[in-house]
Amino acid sequence: MVSSLIGFIRFFELDVKQKKEYFGRDMTKKVVYNTNFDLYSSPAANWRDTILFHMAPNPPEPEQLPTCCREIVTEFSKEMLNLGDVLFQLLSEALGLRSNHLKEIGCLEGMDTAYNYYPVCPEPELTLGATQHTDTGFITVLAQDDIGGLQVLHRNRWVDVPPMSQGLVVNLGTLLQVMSNDKFTSVEHRVVLKGAEPRVSAISFFGIGYTLNTRLYGPVEELLSEDNPPKYKKTTIKDLVAHAYKQGLDGTSFLHHLKLMD
Ligand code: OGA
Ligand code: NI
Repeated sequence: MVSSLIGFIRFFELDVKQKKEYFGRDMTKKVVYNTNFDLYSSPAANWRDTILFHMAPNPPEPEQLPTCCREIVTEFSKEMLNLGDVLFQLLSEALGLRSNHLKEIGCLEGMDTAYNYYPVCPEPELTLGATQHTDTGFITVLAQDDIGGLQVLHRNRWVDVPPMSQGLVVNLGTLLQVMSNDKFTSVEHRVVLKGAEPRVSAISFFGIGYTLNTRLYGPVEELLSEDNPPKYKKTTIKDLVAHAYKQGLDGTSFLHHLKLMD
């Protein structure tokens, strides 16, 4: 996995003129490179550059991908979709649903692959690579290099997620929390900056980029009963993402607007 990370770092090391071709803030484009996709809506900026590829349901043509990482992006995304298929089966079963359930309601339809690049920071204690947040979609699968810095909030304490050679991190997203009616909890996480070398991570977001999807998602009907009434209103991914962008610095849950009860 680490070797595939090294492959795409080449993109970030290209000169500005070459990278400029992909630069933009229109997140509906199939390939978008920028620093802080939410620069104008977030209360704080992240020390990070990202190139994002909308890989499912309608992937870019190969020639739309930067030549230096064309093969790697394609291969990585294919493997992630295969893995996503297995993960959604397991998660369906964990919820007590038929193994195809989450797939049948579209969890595997939309996937974005993102490559994050955290440059070396001269004053790392003054900033963060990624401020506290939860991921918006169904699940996120992440491969990080061996620099470290990813942390999860566990019982109000930040805990390191140490890099593991060949290991992947799977985060449950906010939308899956809503669908599970709080049986699953989406994880608060952040990235602190360390090391004298840039850090890179490769991520596949299932669901998040699917902002044109007007489907309503709420607690899965089959999970609800008199004892387990719905805790959330139904929402579209687009609406959820819009609220996520306004997420407070302290990570105050942007799920409040959907809550039917506490
Ligand atoms: C993200 C994220 C963590 C990382 O992009 O949502 O949490 O290790 N990234 O890059
Ligand atoms: Ni995240």
